[in-house]
Amino acid sequence: MRVNVVGSGGREHALRQVLGRTAEVVDEVGAADLVVIGPEVPLVAGLADDLRAAGKRVFGPGADGARLEGSKAWMKEVLSDAGIPTARHGTFTSLSPAVEFLRSLPGPFVVKTDYPAAGKGVTVTPSFDTACSDVWEKLQHGAVVIEEAMSGPELSLLCVCDGSRAVPLPAARDHKRARTGDFGPMTGGMGAFSPVPGVDEEAIAKSIVQPTLDALRERGIDYRGVLYAGLMLTSDGPKVVEYNVRFGDPEAQVVLPRFAGDLAAFLAEAADGDLRTEPTFVDDACVTVVLASEGYPGPCRTGDPIEGLADAERQEGVIVFRAGVTEDPDGTTRTAGGRVLDVTAFGPTVAVARERAYEAVGLISWPGMHYRTDIAQ
Ligand code: GLY
Repeated sequence: MRVNVVGSGGREHALRQVLGRTAEVVDEVGAADLVVIGPEVPLVAGLADDLRAAGKRVFGPGADGARLEGSKAWMKEVLSDAGIPTARHGTFTSLSPAVEFLRSLPGPFVVKTDYPAAGKGVTVTPSFDTACSDVWEKLQHGAVVIEEAMSGPELSLLCVCDGSRAVPLPAARDHKRARTGDFGPMTGGMGAFSPVPGVDEEAIAKSIVQPTLDALRERGIDYRGVLYAGLMLTSDGPKVVEYNVRFGDPEAQVVLPRFAGDLAAFLAEAADGDLRTEPTFVDDACVTVVLASEGYPGPCRTGDPIEGLADAERQEGVIVFRAGVTEDPDGTTRTAGGRVLDVTAFGPTVAVARERAYEAVGLISWPGMHYRTDIAQ
């Protein structure tokens, strides 16, 4: 099978690598038997619909299903209608009912833009005044969703869906804040690990993700792609923080390398609306550490040559996924984005995988490089 992967980050490098074990990965959509769409932006814009209309077999939801990630208000409506556990919330287009709702919450407060805001749409604050002024600012550009903050460890559960069935992959946990100790601004993710001990993926898929897929189906949406549930494991059980309509980044970099089979055939079954294969995964754990450019997640410095990449890749059990790099004609690899490399390692336990990942990280450098030292700790 020939497979094309749309997108160019670390997640897509991991997809190409794992798909390439059993299939031919091609650069042209036209030459592919299966197109796998990586990022959310083209999904929300309807690329999967366009490709399907042109006769392509596509893994990724159409714009109707991708709205789950494109509109937080609509996602909450789907969840509430289906009785799926999530935080108490309200959607507002004007200030005074929003402030009234904030007054009814104990705090901390979560304020989200309904519209996509390039990862900068979520504010979590203990201050009522800060929440009010944040609502005011966000309302200048569109609706806001206000939520009661939940507490507990977070979990990413990615399920592959064929329109009617949601099949869970092993859970992962990512680390979203920029700095060690969970400090600093929110990012796309600074590292991840899988498996996560003590998690019953089948049970969570059954109680949360399958009912979401059923709710989409009842709305006439034939969802074929990844439903990625961002969950909070609260004392009242798992609750949905958000849904994404694609593989997580960097979760894909720790889940997909553990896939023990023909990923292309598996995703093609989902794209055909006929998932039959039960996926299997190696027992080894996987840890990824994101190496970022100076300034990330803000405007960042790029263009620096990366030292030590080949040495890192020679380490036992290590794969380095390229998230934001360019290559000079002479082979020099340079930084070209905020998240630059995902240094990923296997090991018999999360602790061993972590140790190997950080040993490899220690061999890589460029001016201004930064990373968290507590991934998977
Ligand atoms: N790791 C978070 C995300 O993919 O959105």
